[in-house]
Amino acid sequence: MVDRSSDADSGPLRDLEQWDEDVLDRYPEPDNRLAPKSDKTKEQFREYRANVRPEVVEFYRLNHKYQTVDFVRAKRDEYFKLNKRRMGLWDGLEFLNTLIDDSDPDTNMPQLDHLLQTAEAIRRDGHPRWFILTGLIHDFGKVLCLFGEPQWAVVGDTFPVGCAWSDKIVLSEFLADNPDSQVAEYQTPDGIYEEGCGLDNVLMSWGHDEYMYHVVKDYLPTEALYMIRYHSFYPGHREGAYAHLMNDDDRKYMNAVRAFNPYDLYTKAAERPDMDELRSFYEELWNEYLPRELAF
Ligand SMILES: [Fe+2]
Ligand SMILES: [Fe+2]
Repeated sequence: MVDRSSDADSGPLRDLEQWDEDVLDRYPEPDNRLAPKSDKTKEQFREYRANVRPEVVEFYRLNHKYQTVDFVRAKRDEYFKLNKRRMGLWDGLEFLNTLIDDSDPDTNMPQLDHLLQTAEAIRRDGHPRWFILTGLIHDFGKVLCLFGEPQWAVVGDTFPVGCAWSDKIVLSEFLADNPDSQVAEYQTPDGIYEEGCGLDNVLMSWGHDEYMYHVVKDYLPTEALYMIRYHSFYPGHREGAYAHLMNDDDRKYMNAVRAFNPYDLYTKAAERPDMDELRSFYEELWNEYLPRELAF
């Protein structure tokens, strides 16, 4: 059993799921799930703005204030060493489950349920095995919370740092309080990058996506790596921002991110998957692509 430090999920959100719930408010399930609309109406956006919860507003205020180029570089230096912990499938899931909200008896294992529901929906639709595995592990990077990172450095929409912020970033007005707003070099459209340089050369705000990408980058197909690395990059994959930094690969593989997104957002089912029934399937799937233990 893992000790859960008292401030392991410190931040304004009730728990990490509250961010996911907010994204769902912003991008409600379209009538036709197979053809999700990327352009929401101004009306819907105003509605979201009017109803966004105060905890979520506070969460983005912190996220937008503290995600600086220096912060991102420091976290990459720290976490890319992958010397925090070695975890296989089961210790990983158990570790993630310590992210539960102790005060709520109804949410027993929200992380595990979300990962299994995502993976099972991908499996039901007959997608390749690497795609199913991606569904299972895409949020493993949330263990950052258990390594002491505040909520605003674990979840939240991600966006490039080191160049001008897009007004497509949710609650982008809070970025005015980010110290990078005073660095002229970071405030041009290309900033410290070159046009068309490719997202691989762009520093994204720090969170569970970039971290998990780094953990599995040697083991999975490119499509899977894009899904993991950019699934929270809503300004890019849902709003069409930052196209000027993308290259041909990004344009091609962003389609994989868009194919993954509905499984992440719209698979919260009432019935909970039975881990015991699924155990051997997912164990085999993990072993097909990943080493017994992954270095985090
Ligand atoms: Fe995620
Ligand atoms: Fe997710």
